[in-house]
Parts: sequence; structure tokens; C-alpha cells
Amino acid sequence: MTRDATRRDFIRAGAGLALGAALPMPALSTSHHRAVPSLPKTGETGQPAPGAHREPMERVRIGFVGVGGQGMTHVENLLEIPGAELTAVCDIVEGKVRAAQEKAVAKGFREPTGYSRGPRDFERLCAEEELDLVFTATPWEWHVPVMLAAMANGKHAATEVPAAMTVDDCWAMVESAEKHGKHCVMMENCCYDRFELMTLNLVRQGLLGEILHGEAGYLHDLRGVKFSREGEGLWRRAWATGHNGNLYPTHGLGPIANCMDINRGDRFERIVSFSSPSRGLQLWQAEHLDADDPRRRERYVLGDVNVGLIQTARGRTIYLAHNTNNPRPYSRLQLLQGTRGLVSGWPYRVHLEGRSPEHQWEDAAGYYEEFDHPLWRAKRIQEMDRGHGGMDFLEDFRLIECLTRGEPTDMDVYDAAALSSMVELSIRSVAKKGRPEEVPDFTRGRWRSRAPWPVVEA
Ligand SMILES: NC(=O)c1ccc[n+]([C@@H]2O[C@H](COP(=O)([O-])OP(=O)(O)OC[C@H]3O[C@@H](n4cnc5c(N)ncnc54)[C@H](O)[C@@H]3O)[C@@H](O)[C@H]2O)c1
Repeated sequence: MTRDATRRDFIRAGAGLALGAALPMPALSTSHHRAVPSLPKTGETGQPAPGAHREPMERVRIGFVGVGGQGMTHVENLLEIPGAELTAVCDIVEGKVRAAQEKAVAKGFREPTGYSRGPRDFERLCAEEELDLVFTATPWEWHVPVMLAAMANGKHAATEVPAAMTVDDCWAMVESAEKHGKHCVMMENCCYDRFELMTLNLVRQGLLGEILHGEAGYLHDLRGVKFSREGEGLWRRAWATGHNGNLYPTHGLGPIANCMDINRGDRFERIVSFSSPSRGLQLWQAEHLDADDPRRRERYVLGDVNVGLIQTARGRTIYLAHNTNNPRPYSRLQLLQGTRGLVSGWPYRVHLEGRSPEHQWEDAAGYYEEFDHPLWRAKRIQEMDRGHGGMDFLEDFRLIECLTRGEPTDMDVYDAAALSSMVELSIRSVAKKGRPEEVPDFTRGRWRSRAPWPVVEA
């Protein structure tokens, strides 16, 4: 099936189901993206490849787009990180721009220029400001338009997760990053959490043996958030009116992908996906909303529980789960099975053959002293005001550090595309009663020779 046909079917699959919704279903049209029959090979554009080294920079001038809940967390982090300079801020809500500007001034920086003339004002920011990086934490449907505008204007791009919601948009990111020679990074904070990074350290030291299987999930009761009158309540619920699959695959899958060297020795090859009935949001609606609340007219199609199985080119297996609609404590699963043992998240446990008591789990806390990742040990990071705790700060720190050192970013555009493509591919598989969907090779063969992410030091 051609890429265009794929996209048309996807949009059609959702479109008919959104009727009667009080929140408009997000448009998945990727009109900014022309179909590209053959993408340029790296090197042919005369630009540095996404994973290549570049000139070091003394400072990173940043334009931030979308300073809501998560965006403001990044802004606060960036104001603490040496080399980062918040130069411009954009949001459709003027008061949020103001709040970010005030934070910068309170930290002794020049007031960043504000942009709040509507939903496409980021285009003006990208065109007018002298920036090195545009970073977005907007609702999902805006990530790709912001990043494409950034790269077309000669800026590196970083985004919150998922980077893109369609396979077409994944290709658009790849094409733009290659054409303009810019970094395009999906900021997957869970790759930097302590247990996940220790797991990577164990894998790199060979303690788990050959990695065979992973389990990953995003299991988070977001019913209250989705029906809130602010923040994500203004946009996230709309996705559930038209799309049934795994809408948020990257938190669990990112760290597993790193341990399996996805795009760097292996790659996702195909996925099958199934969804349970859709009940949680309907129940919430009936039990919490007034009889005349227009949100009662919304109809949801997102199955409460979505489960997928991914196979990699090297034959490994991954179980991928998503549930944001039912009562349950938070979990990202995080299980990694190797030939010499396994680790398992939530609760964090380890079993290593020859080290752990036979057939018994050990608490992972006992492993940190010996196997903590160097990023979690680094004194200079510990000495900074890390604001919102470890992982969000670390991911921002690493992004700025890679840019100032001129090193490749930890995750690049191929990772952003492969991980994010699971959104549309899971939706398509669910619509076909679990038929396998092939995952595009966004690296176009280079996954075989790209080097794995090493255990980096700050
Ligand atoms: N990594 C994580 O742990 C994590 C946690 C929360 C949210 N997120 C991600 O961060 C992103 C934002 O989520 P949030 O919780 O901060 O939502 P939010 O609604 O609190 O913030 C979104 C902000 O974007 C602004 N905005 C909307 N459209 C815009 C446009 N066209 N141009 C400029 N600004 C625009 C909104 O006014 C709002 O301030 C999402 O992609 C979400 O998935 C990630």
C-alpha cells in the first residue's frame, strides 16, 4: 500500500466516528507534507546526517513553543542548565507566555521575546528569531508542524512525545532533518529514569546476556485529566473520539528500544495490536458530568486497554500496552528478558543468574550502588537545582550538553519516527482485527551499521 493510501484510510477510519463530539477530533491531515517517492540518501543533501557530529556551540538559543504543564517544566529546567538560553517563548495563551518570561527574568536572564498571535505564530518565531533550537510541548497535533517550521528555518528541533501521530508525519520529520541537516529529537524522558538507565548499564555490561524480549506500557489513569477544564482536558480527550489503538506508546517503549539497539543493530519490523471495549470515558461522563454538559454528547472509540506485540528484525519480541481510561495505579511495565536474567519494573526487581538466589527476585534498590548509570552518579548534575526530579532534568541536560559539545543527540529523528509510528500502526492493526502492520525502516538500511547508544557520562 502506498504511503498516501495509508494516510487516507487512517483519516477516514477516524473521521466518521467523531460525529457529535463536543471537542473537535484533531485533524490528522498532513497537508504540509508532500508525498516523497524516494528520500535523499544521507550525504547527498550536503548536510550533516542526523547522527553526525557538528561544530560545538557555546550557548544554545532556544525558542520554546507551548508552555503549559510539561512545557513549563522544561522551561524551568532549561533556566538551570549551563549553555541554555531561553530566547523566545510562544503559546496561544498570552498569560502563559508572560509566566515563562517572568521565570526567565527572575533567574537573571534577558526577557525572552513573546509570541502569542494565534496557533500558527510559531511560524513567525521560527522565521524571525535567531535561534539554535526550537523546542515544543504543544498538544500532539502541533508537534510536527512546529518542528518542520523550525528545521526549514535552519533550527534544530525537539519535541515532547509522541513526536508524530501518523506514519506520514514520521517520514516528514525524517525527510526534513536530512534535507536541512538538523537534529530532530523526541524528548522521551522515561529513557532517563534511574531504573531504565541502570537497566541499560546492565545490558551494556552483558549481565542480562542476549536480550530476547521486552514488555513496556503506559498504564495511567488519566480520566480526571482528560475531563479537566484546563491543560490536557482541552485537547487529549478528543483523540479518544476518533482513534482506537495505542495513542501514547513511547514512554514504555523508548527505554526498551535503547536496550534492544533499535535503529542501531536491530529495528522494529511489524506490530499486531488489539483493543478491548471502550468503557472508561463513557462511565466517567455518565457519573461526573451534569446532564446538560455538552461533553456528554461525545462518543469514544478508544479501547480502554490496547495491547500490541512487536517483532524486531532480529526476532525479538515486545509486548506493548496502553490504558489511560480505567482506575489503576501508574505503571510503565518495563520488563527486559535476557538469556542470563531479567529486570522488571513497577515494582523494580532484578533476577540475574549466578548472582540472585535461584528462582527469586531481588529488589532493584540493592543494585544501584554497583550499577547506577553514570548520569545518575554525576556530581555536577546532582549539584544543580534539578527542579522536577531526575529524568526530565536529565533529558534536557543531555540535549543541551550534546548540542554544546557538537555531539550527536542521544536519540535522533529515526528514533522519533520508529517509536512514534506505533500510534498509527497500532490503530491500523486494530482496525484490521489484529493483522500485522509492517513498520517502515526510517533509516533505510542504516540500522545495520549505526552504533548503539553507549553508556554516556556527563
Ligand atoms: N514526557 C512527559 O512525561 C509528559 C508529561 C506531560 C505531557 N507531555 C507531553 O507534552 C505535551 C504537552 O502536554 P501538557 O500536559 O503540557 O499539555 P498542556 O495543555 O498543559 O500544554 C500545552 C500548551 O500548548 C499551548 N498550545 C496549544 N496549541 C498551541 C499552538 N498552536 N501554538 C503554541 N502553543 C500552543 C497551550 O496553550 C498549552 O499552554 C504533549 O505532547 C504531552 O504528550 C509529556
